[in-house]
Amino acid sequence: MKKFVLAAAMAVLSGPAFAQAYPARPITMIVPFAAGGPTDIVARVVAEPMSKTLGQTIVIENVAGAGGTTGITRAAGAPADGYMIMMGHMGTHGAAPALYPNLKYDPTKDFAPVGLAAGTPIVIVGQKNHPANNLKEFIDWAKKQGDKSNHAHAGVGSVSHSTGILLNSLMGTKPTFIPYTGTGPALNDMMSGQVDYMTDQIVNVVSQVQAGTIKAFAIATPARSPALPNLPTTKEAGLPEYEVSAWNAIFAPKGTPADVVAKLNDALVKSLDDAGVKKRMDDLGAVMPQGAERSSAALQKLVESEVARWTPVLKAAAAAAK
Ligand code: MLT
Repeated sequence: MKKFVLAAAMAVLSGPAFAQAYPARPITMIVPFAAGGPTDIVARVVAEPMSKTLGQTIVIENVAGAGGTTGITRAAGAPADGYMIMMGHMGTHGAAPALYPNLKYDPTKDFAPVGLAAGTPIVIVGQKNHPANNLKEFIDWAKKQGDKSNHAHAGVGSVSHSTGILLNSLMGTKPTFIPYTGTGPALNDMMSGQVDYMTDQIVNVVSQVQAGTIKAFAIATPARSPALPNLPTTKEAGLPEYEVSAWNAIFAPKGTPADVVAKLNDALVKSLDDAGVKKRMDDLGAVMPQGAERSSAALQKLVESEVARWTPVLKAAAAAAK
């Protein structure tokens, strides 16, 4: 009897009638970091117009811990009915397998990718009173500090952690790492001078860099950002091998009906075409996905390529950090 009931339930969940009715109630989007950080910022920018398109509120739930893997693990285990989605990124769905031997999910297998929300270039930032005034001076300073410098990040495997250990391995430095539940809280401590530096997504730090309340030394993308036109690239500043960019993307649990995923992707794409979203993302320095980059299939390919790319690099960087 039980099997029959389950089969009947699955048939209803995956049938066209279910998709037509979806969403019939509010949707939860797990953001696996503290409120106010880059993942939270991107989630809230795209979720609002998505709610309007879907006709149901998307409720953001911040579930922080373990570099974002706590929240993603919880979301991955939720019912695959479209009412629990998540904002993942290059850390949770690219770097994490290299840094968590017992990761409870496989980014390439355990999700229904919905779509890319934003590309988020990485910026090397320091506290306002940092003695360095350019990347070369920063590197010279970092090398002299040994473990006396404080390097902030959002937990092992996060974007700020994985791009941070990569920078340290290139500089040959071994700072003291200060973990946070997100780079939102980390930025607060940097602004009060409690941490020395971090590598963070531009959407989190751009306004503080523009206001001069923190320093930026370089951006790790091939070209400068229109949001920070005076900030040199790492290539211009003498560290060409440090070229790294992050991204934020929406995922649903594996097994979410294809029609439901398509509705979520459609709402996301409409959000990316919203003039207000585009302006907000441009102001934040985000790089908007275009055309084919916006499809669920493109996100699946991105996750597969990012896991393959980052696993050897981060295993080596993590070994060097010991
Ligand atoms: C990270 O991976 O560093 C996170 O994106 C930081 C955050 O969103 O707070």
